[in-house]
Amino acid sequence: MNKPQKSIGIFDSGIGGLTVANAILNILPKESIVYFGDTAHLPYGDKSPEIIKKFCRAITSFLLQQEVKMIVIACNSASAAAFELVRKLAEEQQVTVINVIDPVVDYIVSNKFNHVGIIGTRATIGSKIFPTKIKIANPAIEVSALATPLLAPMIESGFVKGDISRTVIETYLADETLNDIDALVLACTHYPLIKREIEEYYKNNHKNVNIIATNEIVAQAVLSTLESQNLINKVGNAQYHFFVSDYTDSFKKTTQLFYDQEVSLKQIDIFKEE
Ligand code: DGL
Repeated sequence: MNKPQKSIGIFDSGIGGLTVANAILNILPKESIVYFGDTAHLPYGDKSPEIIKKFCRAITSFLLQQEVKMIVIACNSASAAAFELVRKLAEEQQVTVINVIDPVVDYIVSNKFNHVGIIGTRATIGSKIFPTKIKIANPAIEVSALATPLLAPMIESGFVKGDISRTVIETYLADETLNDIDALVLACTHYPLIKREIEEYYKNNHKNVNIIATNEIVAQAVLSTLESQNLINKVGNAQYHFFVSDYTDSFKKTTQLFYDQEVSLKQIDIFKEE
């Protein structure tokens, strides 16, 4: 098979990366996808960088065995902990790796925000990767980061609308850390699924805050990287293969939400040597 016709490998701890996969397919509908959701080890956000790296190593080997042409780490926690590791492993097979942090940092810096709020998992916020990278690019941008550890498990369990999720979302957004921001980065790939609820909170509180859902920004980075490497699939016949380390109903339901066709979803144990 010619390299452009190979699949894009995408992974996350669970359903969050599907928001990225979906954004990629919206602008690159002819691409095939191999997706791995590490549902057995979710949430990544509460794990140490060492253990996240261990999971990412196994997932990267799996995706490289599937002969993907590119790997997208569709998880902020994994991007923060393991990007260098994944990049090195993939480099041996001339496979480019895109993370979900660098394209977003570029976007923030080029849009000249004054005070940016970041919400994400403990792993992402604890790594300080967003403030560090933004400050290197433009020290004048004020950055306030808040860990919001309940959000990803809440979303993964299907609590997106309703009183429970509204209370959790409002409690986090009302935190004084996020006072006076002009942009809020949803630094977890699960959060686009509650973007509407977040927008509603700011609207109801008469605050003008740009909500930056990173999936579309990352999809643009995938498009321009594939273009620059002449790897866009022009032939089509897109195929979607979804793998999970533990079969969950919420994963099945969410894949169905995103793809109007029946998708192949398989449980697979790629961590046998653990
Ligand atoms: N979607 C993952 C991220 O972007 C986090 C979810 C988790 O904690 O597993 O950070």
